[in-house]
Amino acid sequence: MKILLTGGTGYIGSHTAVELINRGYDVEIVDNLFNSKITVLDGIEEITGVRPKFYHVDLLDKNKLDEVFANSHYDAVMHFAGLKAVGESVEKPLLYYYNNIGTTINLLEVMKKHKVNKMIFSSSATVYGDQDGVKLTEDSQTGVGITNPYGQTKYMIEQILKDTATANPDFEVTILRYFNPVGAHASGLIGEDPNDIPNNLMPIIMKVSTGEIPTLSVYGNDYNTPDGTGMRDYIHVVDLACGHVMAIEKMGPGVQIYNLGTGEATSVMEMIRAFEKASGKSLPYKITARRPGDLAKVFADPTKAEMELKWKTKLTIADAMRDTINYLKHYEKK
Ligand code: NAD
Ligand code: UD1
Repeated sequence: MKILLTGGTGYIGSHTAVELINRGYDVEIVDNLFNSKITVLDGIEEITGVRPKFYHVDLLDKNKLDEVFANSHYDAVMHFAGLKAVGESVEKPLLYYYNNIGTTINLLEVMKKHKVNKMIFSSSATVYGDQDGVKLTEDSQTGVGITNPYGQTKYMIEQILKDTATANPDFEVTILRYFNPVGAHASGLIGEDPNDIPNNLMPIIMKVSTGEIPTLSVYGNDYNTPDGTGMRDYIHVVDLACGHVMAIEKMGPGVQIYNLGTGEATSVMEMIRAFEKASGKSLPYKITARRPGDLAKVFADPTKAEMELKWKTKLTIADAMRDTINYLKHYEKK
């Protein structure tokens, strides 16, 4: 089975490429390298022994994308490509709407032309908006209380995919709503590139540990949680990647939606302590004001994915911290 990964040199796409190749899938990648590096292909090759065919193409360039599809027949597409920096999306909303929605529309049109009818889409827990402290199921309300354009693009794309499936009964789409991906491949050869402008907790912890950022700001310790800091459902990126493999094996008619999370919530202070334990170093931090739009506790009910995809997370926060530190060591050597 041949699968095209858009955004496949990025953080989640590269880990998914590894898991797919390890299970015998034929993987090709298209990416404009806006937020990833070509050297990621070296990492994938070193881990798997296979270097995926790579197209340096912007998905906004529909003609070039059409050429990619004219070259080979794909059985399915995994659509990871997109911009994801929440803060930047507030400053540059049009860039986010244009890139995330424009790429998806181009891709759907080109897929239709080349009769490729299966897609897995990278959505986010952000579509659940401002629901706080409840275990989120796939049936929980979406679209209300989304605080930024990035989140809106995920919600809008989900709707575009549902409408596309209604119009074309041959189209099969699985929407995966990721909770908070963390960690790296156990080899340390691929991981989250600490070069992007981080606003998520783990990339900031990484930069504090290397000294690039002096102190971690803990955004509030007065939430209604056991230690007062925000709690999230952190999922190891390799578990997340395996979720894609299970999803592709279970594709079916129409639209399927799955939460990919652990079902457990971990606080910011617990994440700091876990990193310190794994690294043996203390992490400088200070308590600051809450970040606007933040919620106290966001976590998944992953039962549907467990039941239907036969997928369950296996890796822990301690594994994620160990693998992140290992990746940082490799990264620093380069
Ligand atoms: P990433 O930035 O590491 O990877 C995305 C890739 O898409 C990058 O390599 C980038 O160069 C590429 N890309 C962006 N615009 C493109 C375009 N116009 N043409 C071609 N390539 C383009 O991000 P990631 O963390 O791997 O996320 C993958 C997907 O998962 C994204 O859609 C993201 O929104 C979604 N997601 C991520 C998280 C997270 O916390 N990392 C959480 C929920 C959902
Ligand atoms: C954020 C986005 C969400 C997006 C998700 C994945 C906001 C309000 N939400 O979610 O839309 O889908 O990233 O990209 O931006 N924290 C600190 N200090 C920091 C950074 C984070 O204390 O420097 C805390 C946060 O307050 C939160 C937790 O760490 O409690 C996780 O934050 P983050 O990694 O940004 O993820 P989300 O808030 O879940």
